[in-house]
Amino acid sequence: MQAEQLLKKAVEVSAFSYSPYSNFKVGAALQAESGKIYFGTNVENASYGATFCAERSALGSAIADNAQKFTHLAVYINQPVLSVPCGICRQVLAEFSKNLIIFCASKQEWEQKKWQEYTLASLLPYSFHL
Ligand code: THU
Repeated sequence: MQAEQLLKKAVEVSAFSYSPYSNFKVGAALQAESGKIYFGTNVENASYGATFCAERSALGSAIADNAQKFTHLAVYINQPVLSVPCGICRQVLAEFSKNLIIFCASKQEWEQKKWQEYTLASLLPYSFHL
């Protein structure tokens, strides 16, 4: 799937984000090698540290469907901030797909049909592995 199409899916799913504390609605669309797309949103909690990110939410959904290899990830955030995956999500994604290509868009970027493109390896060059 092309960047714009995958980001569109991330934008759509961001509407379901449970984020009453930050109002940061994050959507993730993770494409497996099979072509299948898995979705995630951030899920916040009154105990803030229990919050989990959209990227890991999408990954959990994929793992539960027996998908473990991924080609592309799109992340959208409804805020004027850089929408790159956080450090924890980078490490968790690196467990599965070091060559992942990541498309990221903030609200402002998306409105102009712009986005950033990264590789996971460039965002996390020294991931931890056992
Ligand atoms: N968040 C994500 O969903 N993904 C990230 O990579 C960074 C942060 C969420 C967590 C929290 O609900 C909100 O954004 C503000 O940190």
